[in-house]
Parts: sequence; C-alpha cells; structure tokens
Amino acid sequence: MNNTRRRFLKTSLLGSAAIATGCTTEVSVGEEPKAESWHPLKILILGGTGFIGPHMVKEALRRGHEVELFNRGRTDSQLFPDIKLHVGDRNNDLGSLEGGNWDVVVDNSGYVPRHVEDSARLLAPVVSHYLYISTISVYGDFSRPINEDTAVGTLEDESVEEVTGETYGPLKALCEKRVLSEVGADRTTILRPTYICGPGDRTDRYSYWPVRTMRGREMLWPGTPGDDIQIIDVRDLANFTIDCLEKKTAGVFNTCTPSGSFKMGELLEDSLAVTASDMSPTWVSTEFLKEHEVMLPIWEDPHGENSQLLTVDGSRAAAAGMHCRPTRETARDTVSWWNTLPAERTTATRAGLTPEREAELLALWAEQNA
Ligand SMILES: NC(=O)c1ccc[n+]([C@@H]2O[C@H](COP(=O)([O-])OP(=O)(O)OC[C@H]3O[C@@H](n4cnc5c(N)ncnc54)[C@H](OP(=O)(O)O)[C@@H]3O)[C@@H](O)[C@H]2O)c1
Repeated sequence: MNNTRRRFLKTSLLGSAAIATGCTTEVSVGEEPKAESWHPLKILILGGTGFIGPHMVKEALRRGHEVELFNRGRTDSQLFPDIKLHVGDRNNDLGSLEGGNWDVVVDNSGYVPRHVEDSARLLAPVVSHYLYISTISVYGDFSRPINEDTAVGTLEDESVEEVTGETYGPLKALCEKRVLSEVGADRTTILRPTYICGPGDRTDRYSYWPVRTMRGREMLWPGTPGDDIQIIDVRDLANFTIDCLEKKTAGVFNTCTPSGSFKMGELLEDSLAVTASDMSPTWVSTEFLKEHEVMLPIWEDPHGENSQLLTVDGSRAAAAGMHCRPTRETARDTVSWWNTLPAERTTATRAGLTPEREAELLALWAEQNA
C-alpha cells in the first residue's frame, strides 16, 4: 500500500479519535409541516459524542425524534446531559443495551468486525433498521473509477483487530459484511463518507485551507486550480442519515460532493470569500511536491495512483435524496466555528504545513522558478 493511501486511511481514522469537540449543542425544534404518516422514531446511536454524532443527535432532535446513546462515557460526556446514555464498551460490554427497545440504530463507532457483529446480532431482533457509518476507505484500489459496486479491500488475516492506516479500510469493509449478514440487506443502510468536514472537525484536513487562508500572506497551493476534490459537510451527512432512518432507505451509498463539482480553485475562492484575507496563492507543481515529499490534506495528485480517490461516484446517494450544501457555506461555518475555539486549539492546525515548512518550500519554489 502506498504512502498517500496509507495517510488517507490513517488520517480518516484519526479524524474519529477522541479529542474534544467544539460542536454546539443547542437544539431548536423543527417547524416543517409533517406528513400524516410521520411518527417520531426512537433512535439509538452507538457513539454520538465525537464529531459526526453530535450533528446527528441535533438533527434527529430538531425533527422531533427521540435519541439515546451508547458509549463509554469518556468522550465529551457532558455534551448531552438530557439524553439517556447507555454506558458500555463495544468490546465485550453491551450489557446496558440488553432488554432495550428502539426503532432504529445508527452505528458510528464500529471499527472492529467482532464489535459490529456483536451489536448487530443483539440489536437485529429489536430494531427495524440498522445504519452503519462506513468509509470511502473500504475500496481497495483508487487508481480506477469508484462506485458502490467497486471491489472493497481485503485482509489476508480476517481475525486482525488492530486498526491501523493499513487495516482501517478492509476492517470497515468486513464490518459492513457482518451487519449485512446479521441484519439483512433489506433492513441495512451503509454510508461511505469521504472526508467529513465542517464545524467540529477534529482533523483540520479541510479546515486547514480556510484557516490558513485567514492568516494571509503568500500561501502554497498544490497542483492546479482545476484539480478535483471531494468532501462531505457533516451536516449534510447528518441530514441524509436521518432521512435514511425515516424512510428506511436500505442500500450502500457513497456520501460525497458530486464527482467533478468541486475543485481546488473553488476551495481557494471559498477560503478567500469567507475570510476577507489578503492571502496570495502560489500554485506549485505536483512534481515539486513529490520531489520534496510534501503531503497535503484533501488534495491528491490527479495523475497519481490514487487519482480516483477524489472523484468517487456519489450519484446513488444524490438520487436517494442526499443534498450537498454549497461549499462556501461549509467554509463560512468552519471558519466561524474555528474562531470560537480556545487559543491552545488554534495555535497550530492538525493537518497541513507548518508555517516554517511552508516558508521553506515557497523559498525553494521561488528559487527554482527565478
Ligand atoms: N472523519 C472522517 O473524515 C471520516 C470519514 C469517513 C468515515 N468516518 C467514520 O465516521 C465514524 C466516526 O465518527 P465520530 O467519531 O465523529 O462519531 P461519533 O459518534 O461522534 O463519536 C464516536 C463515539 O464513539 C464512542 N466510542 C468510541 N469507542 C467506543 C467503544 N469501544 N465502545 C463504545 N463507544 C465507543 C465515543 O464515546 P466514548 O469515547 O465515550 O466511548 C464517541 O461517542 C467512524 O465510523 C469512521 O469510520 C469518518
């Protein structure tokens, strides 16, 4: 497995690590008129207090559903004081879920097939629908066009439980398989998000770009403005998740902005527009980046071996009703959220170039192109 792919897998995983979230928790009750057939669901979320979970909780409550959580009570345990928490561990401690009843379950925290199998087996007789949050990293080969029918990665030894950059994707693929076999395809939704971004993101992979732009001056941008990128705004993922629960939409869905609809140049324009910065971009070539072993978040070499990673086909989810907000809104809200964070969180981004490395690279680039 090459370094770029490993980095993507690894950072995807790190994106879900337990680091304090900056997500707001206010809840406003939805005012949309509801169809007569509408009824509130009792939703169990396995997880719920990291990055994506709080957005799902908020959206479900906003629509009038009831939510309960299952987690260890370690990550942001004060986030939802009014929500019933079943304390337990996916690793052999599901006791607090026994005897419970819910309409549907959202599994955000499944990385190990055995854990997912255990929860799916326990909950299959109780819930009518199981939604598993997977990842685009399940696919085995990003050199070819990707849709939901593309082959997923595999592990030589399926008993492996250690989640690393290398095993993350194939383990998630196995988790999907276990849910399907325990619950059945007709009652299962599998969502495969690409880079999830927006307010509360702990990885800074997307945030790096507008945040760095906000700091102004000359900024290094990779490749060309026409290079494709893909993201999914966490709020669009949350909306689609709750839509799938309400409609019992079964199936496997890549969740990402439409292929070809978002480019590095637009990310730059979004970043400038929402920060009113004096940043001036310097686009450096992929050859230069390769020569200096520079990895940058979200961007991929369009001619490299992961060329299809950022042009994944998301049309199936779109046809099922997934809506992607304008990327400028994501940029605006990411920056607004970032500006509310404490200084110790914002002194450095968790992804992207350090100021020193960026200055060094820009000087080298200028020298080469003098
Ligand atoms: N970030 C990305 O760009 C990206 C991209 C694609 C897919 N994904 C997927 O998104 C999901 C993660 O999102 P998230 O972390 O933001 O979800 P989340 O639901 O907001 O947070 C994760 C939750 O899992 C709980 N948890 C962790 N380990 C547990 C355990 N052993 N037993 C019980 N509960 C446990 C944590 O609470 P405690 O620590 O208190 O237990 C926390 O509530 C993963 O499925 C990941 O593969 C992420």
